[in-house]
Amino acid sequence: MQPIGVFDSGVGGLTVLKAIAERLPEEALCYFADTARVPYGPQPAANIVQYSLEIADFLIGQGAKLIVVACNTATAAALHVLRAEWPLLPFVGMEPAVKPAAQATRNGKVGVLATFTTINSDRYASLMRRFAHGVQVWENPCIGLVQLIEQGLWADPETEALLRDILSPMMEKGIDTIVLGCTHYPLVEPLIRQIVGPGIAVINPAPAVARRVEDLLLANDARLSNHGSNFAYSFFASGPQEVMGLTIDHLFGKYYPVTQVNLPFNPDADSSQSIDSRSPKTI
Ligand code: DGL
Repeated sequence: MQPIGVFDSGVGGLTVLKAIAERLPEEALCYFADTARVPYGPQPAANIVQYSLEIADFLIGQGAKLIVVACNTATAAALHVLRAEWPLLPFVGMEPAVKPAAQATRNGKVGVLATFTTINSDRYASLMRRFAHGVQVWENPCIGLVQLIEQGLWADPETEALLRDILSPMMEKGIDTIVLGCTHYPLVEPLIRQIVGPGIAVINPAPAVARRVEDLLLANDARLSNHGSNFAYSFFASGPQEVMGLTIDHLFGKYYPVTQVNLPFNPDADSSQSIDSRSPKTI
């Protein structure tokens, strides 16, 4: 049974995996978190391309019939490279929901939370050119937020203080819509909603991505028809797994084992000493 492959720099993409699992409960899912190299946001695009190629290669080795890049940052840096490398495999990327926000805003004032790499990408510039006509947009690269989320500090005072610093200037501008342009941020959506209150809409594109996955599977005749039977989820991580286990439990209400996989490229290490073992070992 061929799974849908899904990856992110860390636990954030699990919020997308959850949306896919809800929409397509009969599909097998294989998730990879690059917890050894998270966060991607502050890193050069060339590193992120290399990471994405390695992870896609791993997921293809697991039999993936479609790959979801459940990371806005990796989509901005690497989606075009992945599609060029595997032209026959369908890839689904993520991008900040600028278009839905531009349609939803009543006063034309929108806040975008995303990583530095996403905000500074050509892909984002193109989104803004195409869809943000007549809309004022304030972005914030949310420095440090992904790291707090990766530590499981989803409701801690430190995270709340950082989010207040990020959101207050946008609220002072009068935004009525916020885009969650990084897949980690839905894990702190309750805190964001608590800070901004009920008058500001918060947009998480994960359900739209799940719909796109379904459409592509149908178009490729790859959708499973054996509803409700034989499903299987597998989880892999390149580094720490504890918060990943907590996040899976939080989102799925169930324990799943996480398997450790070493990937080759380590930008901090001497290349002659880098590990080149892709064989998974279960912890
Ligand atoms: N979850 C990722 C995104 O959607 C990246 C976070 C990071 O590693 O900086 O952009």
